[in-house]
Amino acid sequence: MNVSESSHDVIVIGGGAIGLAAAYHATAQGARVVVLEQAGFSNQDSSSAGATRQFRIQYSEDYMARLVLQSIPYWEELQKHSRAPLLSDVGSIWFGDPDVSGSEGQIKQAMEVMKRLKIPFEPLTAEQVEQRYGFAGLPRNYLGFFQKGGGTINVPLSLEVMLTQIQASGRATLCPRQSVKAVKSSADGVLVATANGDLYRAGKLILAIGPCSNRLRNLLDIHLDLTIWQMVSCYFKKRKPTVDFPSWFVFEEEKPDDAGLYYGFEEVPWSNPGYIRVAPAFAKHVIRDPDERTPEPDPGDIALTSQWVGRHMPGLDPTPSFTSSCLAALPIDPDKKMFLDFAPGSIPGSRNIVIFAGGWAYKFVPLLGRICADLALQGRTQFDISPFQIPAERMAAVDPTALRRRSLAF
Ligand code: BEZ
Repeated sequence: MNVSESSHDVIVIGGGAIGLAAAYHATAQGARVVVLEQAGFSNQDSSSAGATRQFRIQYSEDYMARLVLQSIPYWEELQKHSRAPLLSDVGSIWFGDPDVSGSEGQIKQAMEVMKRLKIPFEPLTAEQVEQRYGFAGLPRNYLGFFQKGGGTINVPLSLEVMLTQIQASGRATLCPRQSVKAVKSSADGVLVATANGDLYRAGKLILAIGPCSNRLRNLLDIHLDLTIWQMVSCYFKKRKPTVDFPSWFVFEEEKPDDAGLYYGFEEVPWSNPGYIRVAPAFAKHVIRDPDERTPEPDPGDIALTSQWVGRHMPGLDPTPSFTSSCLAALPIDPDKKMFLDFAPGSIPGSRNIVIFAGGWAYKFVPLLGRICADLALQGRTQFDISPFQIPAERMAAVDPTALRRRSLAF
């Protein structure tokens, strides 16, 4: 075993989207960065669940809608380095029972926020959702809206662009298949030891370890209390070439065996052309650590999605194809949209350590990367990240399935 020791300005642990965005911005600010990733840097082992994410401006909270708006210049900046669009411009529709809420938000509240922030949107009736967008069989009390600024993120391309720019900076060392065994932190900086015995020293550390974030307990005695949903994804064959959709999300009344939240995308050329991705925004399989992941996507979640497509999307063959699953880490406290902060003050050298974890965050990726880099290198950010503070006190031990509606309620 060849053991090595190296020094850097910043160590990033986690080579997923946020870790890469942080490395991209840190190298752009002149820092020498090493990124340690336990798997590879390619698109999540090319799982099709990783190909698309929704970009939407509407939120039920003003501060979240503002954050998406603030992310747009950072997407535009990344776009300059890309050979194809990173965000599609199909727009976003939300529809369904206007009083139902999920962890993504609620239709009426989102419309109130858009009115307050002067974000344009077009209200829709159930009939309009059916006639304009090809859905069918919607209850007549359903309402919705179209917001033209939403669309679909090309996930593999966004990762590729960030990786290429990080490499082109000449200031980054990318280390795949490095699992971190120990982190030591002091006022002077951080020391990270990997399982194969390599040592990395730096003044600053950015931790963006996604669904592994509960492991921060063992690494640094930091308790974030995240629950992890093993979310399934399916594609459905178009019955005719002309069938297509904007990006969409439906909020339905919860039934004993169906959380009633589904979402989907337009046909995209980079992932299963001829098919359209539809997925449930809930998960039957809720875990605390990625090691508890099942090898197969949950067949019950797939069956519910297929039934929804069969009832409401006549342009698609309801046979599920290209099924897969991915892990989403979500703060157990439903009012916490994500964690983004320095390490708690109880950790030695806490302000040398920046932590990002949890949430539906892909739409913010380039902005969150900039914030992580600014916190690490400047010790501050111009953006309001107070809603994402890590609580000083440990949250009371809670049953992860009890607090988040629509996870294990059925
Ligand atoms: C979101 O827009 O944040 C979202 C969409 C689908 C599933 C989960 C989250």
